[in-house]
Amino acid sequence: MDDYALLDSGDGQKLERFGPVLLIRPCAQAVWAPRYPELWDSATASFDRKDGLNWHGRERLPETWTITVRGVRMQLSTTDFGHLGIFPETLDLWDQIRRDVQDAQKERDSAPRFLNLFAYSGGATLAAAQAGAACCHLDASRGMVEWARTNAALNGLDQAGIRFIVDDVSGFLRREVRRGRKYDCVLLDPPSFGRGRRGELYKIEKNVQETLELVRQVLSDSPLFVVLTSHTPGFSPIILKNLLEQSLGRAELSCGEMLLQGGPEVLDLPSGNWACWKYGQ
Ligand SMILES: C[S@@+](CC[C@H](N)C(=O)[O-])C[C@H]1O[C@@H](n2cnc3c(N)ncnc32)[C@H](O)[C@@H]1O
Repeated sequence: MDDYALLDSGDGQKLERFGPVLLIRPCAQAVWAPRYPELWDSATASFDRKDGLNWHGRERLPETWTITVRGVRMQLSTTDFGHLGIFPETLDLWDQIRRDVQDAQKERDSAPRFLNLFAYSGGATLAAAQAGAACCHLDASRGMVEWARTNAALNGLDQAGIRFIVDDVSGFLRREVRRGRKYDCVLLDPPSFGRGRRGELYKIEKNVQETLELVRQVLSDSPLFVVLTSHTPGFSPIILKNLLEQSLGRAELSCGEMLLQGGPEVLDLPSGNWACWKYGQ
């Protein structure tokens, strides 16, 4: 059983359950009316961007708490930007990555090498590691990499040989190309706007093609997949798919929307898009 569920959405907000904690946060896509207005009063706390960035009722929340989603234990905490250390819209991708790694294990002598770029708090890294992948987890934020290490320990994976790297994606990939390091599977979630380790500016529109070209150069001779996700408005499933096809060549390509989901009566809430490139199918 997952400790996460979308409970309702509407009027530009979403109501989500993270274990014992119910939170209301902004969500521009929720342009409809809430379906269960009576539920919203039971929220433990809420966050809004009405007059700056504000939590209401943050004192009612524990400083950190732990939930289990798709078999991965994750430590959560409220950040000043309204993030919690998890993007639940990526949960189906964790499952897909886990399945692909497990399937590949049956046909290979060595563990598939998985590279997670812009890897945040590590959910996808840990799902891949649980499936037996040799993982490399990279993020420019030292704090986020520490958070991912904490999550690895919570899952008994602190001795699993995961490479945790604090670095800028472009600089790291260029060095990996020079060193001749190769990976069988890559996940990348480029931010609309982000900063590398030394403040290097990353803008998806400007940088994503170069990043994908570098990803192409670090792919092994028998790659499994490259998954590209985005939360940037305008980066639709087809646009992500076209980017993968143009950078990596024709292969089996699929794409779709990332969704926040709850029970059968709860409206699915689109929260970004994904595309997947699979080799040799
Ligand atoms: C949208 S979040 C990724 C969310 C994550 N993939 C997930 O689903 O949980 C963006 C992450 O990219 C990192 N980041 C931003 N610019 C970067 C850069 N130039 N190099 C490496 N990481 C960067 C940020 O520190 C942040 O953790």
